Amino acid sequence: MTVLVFIDPSAPAGRVADASAPQLSVLDQGVTRGDGVFESALYKGGAVRKLDMHLARLQSSAQLSDLEVPAEDAWRAAVATAVAQYDDEARRSASAADAPGGEAEAVVKLIATRGSEGSGHGTSWVTVSPAPALGRKQRESGVRVLFLDRGYDSTVAERAPWLLMGAKTLSYAVNMAALRYARSNGADDVIFTSSDGRVLEGPTSTVLLATRDGDEKRLITPTLRTGILPGTTQGALFDQAEEAGWKLGYGPVVPQDLLEADAVWLVSSVRLLTPVTSIDGEAISTDGELTAELSGLIEAIE
Ligand SMILES: Cc1ncc(COP(=O)(O)O)c(C=O)c1O
Repeated sequence: MTVLVFIDPSAPAGRVADASAPQLSVLDQGVTRGDGVFESALYKGGAVRKLDMHLARLQSSAQLSDLEVPAEDAWRAAVATAVAQYDDEARRSASAADAPGGEAEAVVKLIATRGSEGSGHGTSWVTVSPAPALGRKQRESGVRVLFLDRGYDSTVAERAPWLLMGAKTLSYAVNMAALRYARSNGADDVIFTSSDGRVLEGPTSTVLLATRDGDEKRLITPTLRTGILPGTTQGALFDQAEEAGWKLGYGPVVPQDLLEADAVWLVSSVRLLTPVTSIDGEAISTDGELTAELSGLIEAIE
């Protein structure tokens, strides 16, 4: 079940459309060039988590891409319409977990493309669909990762703004190819490294590591200066963790840091906190207590 709502100036609350029927022009540059931006947010317990942060990053990705996207109010209205419609359909389905406020998890996607060439306007829509079961499973089981070279050095973002580093664009074919490469080589996920040997991010996640020193717990993530996407989950979790007494650090991080950490996780909005259990085939340290604590903090983020 996927619900689809287009942002349409003639329909202030958004225009509901059939997600199973053709809706998009074959000339749309989102399709022909992957030219557009997007966000994926978690819908759970009747609320879209971190919607403000997702809307802010969507605007920032659009700015970096020189793309005009609808104003926040239009997105909020379309998201409200989409989740209401999703809840209606879930109510009609048999499962209590799918009912509004239940435990079921859904993905809310906000997508904006440059539209058809020459049309002078973009195309923007919201979808809501059930969250993939694999992500939930990996939260429990953890993931085996490979380090893969992204092919850029860690200063490229400053030198080459046309690479749109730090923007969440629709051009995810490379990220998906990296995941396929991992899966055909005995792993589940990827941590990209820069050509000058820094840890960057996952294809769809931010990297976190923790170190314990006596009573002190330190949570570290790679610096944004490397051109990685500013993760909303990492940002919100760091605020929570600091309040809970953790020390925070923002890279630079090198592969050896991950191998020597007490625990490493991949975090993202839908899969949430996923422990990394091995890197390049070697088991690494995991910490059930820290995983439980950070999972609790992430669950509390609204
Ligand atoms: C490349 C990349 N880095 C990091 C993240 C994590 O971002 P967030 O926590 O906002 O979902 C994502 C999310 O999909 C991503 O695609």
